[in-house]
Amino acid sequence: MTMLVARFRALVGALAFLALAIGAQPAGAQQPTSVNPQASAVQEQQLLQELDRISGRCTLPDQKACTIEQPAGRDWRHFHEVTLRWIGGIAIVGILAVLIVFYLWRGMVRIESGRSGRTIVRFNAFERFVHWMTATCFIILAVSGLNISFGKPLLLPVVGPEAFTAWSQWAKYAHNYLSFPFTLGVILIFLMWLAGNIPNRVDVAWFKRGGGIVGHDHPPAHRFNGGQKMIYWIVVLGGAAVALSGYVLMFPFYGTDIQSMQAAQIVHGIVAMLFVAAMIAHIYIGTIGMEGAFEAMGEGTVDLNWAKEHHSLWLEQEQARTAPHQSRQPAATPAE
Ligand code: HEM
Repeated sequence: MTMLVARFRALVGALAFLALAIGAQPAGAQQPTSVNPQASAVQEQQLLQELDRISGRCTLPDQKACTIEQPAGRDWRHFHEVTLRWIGGIAIVGILAVLIVFYLWRGMVRIESGRSGRTIVRFNAFERFVHWMTATCFIILAVSGLNISFGKPLLLPVVGPEAFTAWSQWAKYAHNYLSFPFTLGVILIFLMWLAGNIPNRVDVAWFKRGGGIVGHDHPPAHRFNGGQKMIYWIVVLGGAAVALSGYVLMFPFYGTDIQSMQAAQIVHGIVAMLFVAAMIAHIYIGTIGMEGAFEAMGEGTVDLNWAKEHHSLWLEQEQARTAPHQSRQPAATPAE
C-alpha cells in the first residue's frame, strides 16, 4: 500500500512539473509565426531574420504601416548608409584624383597653332540656353541629392542640427521642383543633338588616336567627337534613369510596392553618383582642361584654329555649306 501511495505521489509530481514547464514558455513562442522554430528544416539565418520582424495589426488604412521593421528594410538601410556612400565616395573622389593627376601631367590642351583671330558659330542661343538650364538644374540636383546621401555624416556635425535641418528642407524642395526643368532639358538635348551623336567609324579612329587629349595628336572629328558622344549618351541615358527612378520616389506607391520603391532608390542613388563623376570630367574638359572650349558654350563661337584642331570634318562641312552665301552672311567672323 505504502508502495502504491509513493508511486501515485511520483506520478502527480511529474505531471505538476510538466504543467509548470508548459506554462513557463514565453508568450511569443505561442504566437503563430510564418516560421515554425521547432521544424528541423528551419535555417538559423531564416529564423533570425523572421524573428527580427516587428509587425502587427493596426487600424490605419495603409496596411504597410503595420510593419515597422523587417529584414529587407535593414538591407536597404545598409545600402543607403554604407554601400551607396562607398560607391559615391570612390566615384567622386576617384575622378577628382584622376583629373588632378592628369592635369599635373598633361596640363591644359592648348590651341597648338595659336588663335587665328577669326571665329565660327558653334552653338546658337537656343542650344546654349538649353545647355545652361539643364546644367544649372543638374548642379543643384546633384548638391541637394548628395546632401541626402552624405549630409548627415559630413555636414551635420559641422553646421549643427538647426542649420542642417533648414538647409536640408530647402535642398529637398529644390530637388523636387528642379527635376521638371531638368527632365525637359534632357529631352531637348536628346532631340537637339541626336543627329550629331550617332557613333560611327570616325569615332573609333578618334579613340584609337587618344582623342587628341592624350598626346598632341589632332584626329579628325565631325561636330561631336567620340568623347563628346559618350557624354551625350551618359546625359541622355543617365538623365532618363534618374528621372524615371526619381519620379517613382517622388510619387510613392502609385502602382509600386515597397520592393520597387527600394529598387528605384538603389537605381537613382547609383546612377546619380556615376553621373556626378562623369559630369565632373565633362566640366574639367570644358574649362581648365582645354583652351578655347568654354567659349563654345559661353559666347557660342570658337576660334577657327580650335575648330581645325578638334573638329576638322565639321569645319570643312560648315565652310562648304556657307561658302555660296559668304558675301551675305559669313560663317567665320573676325574675333573682336
Ligand atoms: C528628374 C530628375 C530627378 C528626380 C525626379 C529626383 C527625385 C529624387 C527623389 C524623390 C529623391 C528621394 C529624396 C528623399 O529621400 O527624400 C532623390 C534622391 C537623390 N537624388 Fe534625385 N532626382 C532627380 C535627379 C537627380 C540628379 C540629376 C541627381 C544627381 C546627379 C540626383 C541625385 C540624387 C541623390 C544622390 C539622391 C539621394 C540618394 C540616396 O542617398 O538614397 N537626382 N531624388
